[in-house]
Amino acid sequence: MSRLAIIYHSAHGHTEFIARQVLTGAGSVEGVDAQLLKAEAATRSPEALVEFDGIILGSPTYLGGVSGPFKSFMDATGRMWRSQQLKGKLAAGFTVSSLPAGDKQSTLLSMFIFSMQHGMLWVGNPILPEQHSGVPYEQAANRLGSWSGLMAQAGHSAPADAFVPGDIKTAQMFGRHVAESLSRVTVAV
Ligand SMILES: Cc1cc2nc3c(=O)[nH]c(=O)nc-3n(C[C@H](O)[C@H](O)[C@H](O)COP(=O)(O)O)c2cc1C
Repeated sequence: MSRLAIIYHSAHGHTEFIARQVLTGAGSVEGVDAQLLKAEAATRSPEALVEFDGIILGSPTYLGGVSGPFKSFMDATGRMWRSQQLKGKLAAGFTVSSLPAGDKQSTLLSMFIFSMQHGMLWVGNPILPEQHSGVPYEQAANRLGSWSGLMAQAGHSAPADAFVPGDIKTAQMFGRHVAESLSRVTVAV
C-alpha cells in the first residue's frame, strides 16, 4: 500500500469539508491508503511525514497566502529540509477562499515552492473546465479554472458544507488524480 497524507488547516470548517472530499477521491484508488492529518498535529511531529509516500497540502487563503497555523506547519519541517527527508515524495495542494478569485493562486504557489524546496514532485489538477462543454457553471468540474492545484470557494460566513456541486466534484476528482499518480509512481519505482 502507498500512503497518502492530506494535511490541512481549517478554522471554520470549509477547508476541512473540502479535505474530506479529497479523501473520498483518493480513497477510491486501490492500493492507496489515504488519511487526513490536521496541520496542528503535523506541526507537533513533522518527522511522522517520512512514513508517507505522498502529501496533499490544504489551507484556507488568508490575505493572499496560507493561514498562520498552516505556515507554522510548513516552518516546523525546516529541520527536515537540511537532510531532504521528504525528497522524492509526491506533493499537491488545495485552497479555499470566500471570493471567486481571492488571490488563491498565491496560496498554491507558496505550497508549490515549499514542495520544491523539499525536493518533492508536484502533481497538478488536470481537469478541463466542464462549463466549456455546456455543463452549468455551478455544476462544472474545475469551474474556477485552476491547474496548478485545487481551488474551491464558499461564501463568507456560509455553512462549512456550502459548496456548489462543481467544487465538490472537482475536489473528489483531484484526490483521485493525486492517488492515481501515486500508484503509477510507486509501480514504476
Ligand atoms: C484572516 C483572514 C484572511 C482572509 N483572506 C482572504 C483572502 O485573501 N481572499 C479570500 O477570498 N478570502 C479570504 N478569507 C476568507 C477565507 O479564505 C474563507 O472564509 C475560507 O473559507 C476559510 O476557510 P476555513 O473555513 O477552512 O477556515 C480570509 C479569512 C480570514 C479569517
